[in-house]
Amino acid sequence: MNAKFKLAALLLGLLGVSSTSFAEESLVEAMFTPFRQKEIVPVDNKQYKEECGSCHFAYPPGLLPEKSWEKLLKGDALKNHFGDNAELDNDVQKAIYDYATANSADKSYHKRSRKITQATASGDAPLRITEVRYIKRKHHELSDKMVKNNPGVKSLSYCDACHSQANQGVFDKDFVKIPNFAKLED
Ligand code: HEC
Ligand code: HEC
Repeated sequence: MNAKFKLAALLLGLLGVSSTSFAEESLVEAMFTPFRQKEIVPVDNKQYKEECGSCHFAYPPGLLPEKSWEKLLKGDALKNHFGDNAELDNDVQKAIYDYATANSADKSYHKRSRKITQATASGDAPLRITEVRYIKRKHHELSDKMVKNNPGVKSLSYCDACHSQANQGVFDKDFVKIPNFAKLED
């Protein structure tokens, strides 16, 4: 928030407004909304959304590097997908593989994707987003009560249980609401 405020104050200064007050906070929010939307590219492929969004949130491909999507989606991998069978027809699998690899984190300049690319640049390709160092770090303060033992969440894999704008590709902490818990302090 601080860096945003400084930048906003600077921009308002250029417009001839000399100071920012809390009353202007909503204006600042409005100014930055377009940047927020660009946190990560939301899923814009109908087939992917349908096939990969039936058991859990359809993860935007920008949440994992290409090497991860290759592992998850190649050959027979989907037959044993985290203990489930998520097998697809060959042509559907190919379309989804192509979409995910073409839009992977390492091919995106969006904020979260870049962090994920940095965090996964070396070492084995993670099969889970929730295993990526950057994502782990962002959630390490959450208790089991808030996640695993929370009937409204079940596991950290259900991003959209807490991230109210996950479908728009927005993961900013300002839009988090954990089911059965009051809004977190800043
Ligand atoms: C039949 C149900 C099912 C379908 C269909 C399915 N998945 Fe999953 N997926 C799961 C389960 C179960 C998990 C593990 C969730 C957990 O640990 O709580 C999972 C986890 C994942 C994860 C790791 C999430 C994490 O923890 O970071 C990714 C990535 C993923 N799925 C991608 C896909 C993609 C891409 C497709 C479409 C090809 C797909 N899934 C279709 C059941 C499914
Ligand atoms: C149990 C609720 C919950 C679930 C499920 C969850 N998150 Fe979060 N997430 C949070 C909270 C709370 C924060 C804010 C942490 C903090 O204070 O910095 C956060 C922060 C983040 C951030 C950093 C946002 C920022 O403003 O810096 C990202 C990125 C993120 N989550 C991605 C994900 C993804 C991807 C998934 C699914 C694989 C996921 N989260 C699942 C609660 C959740």
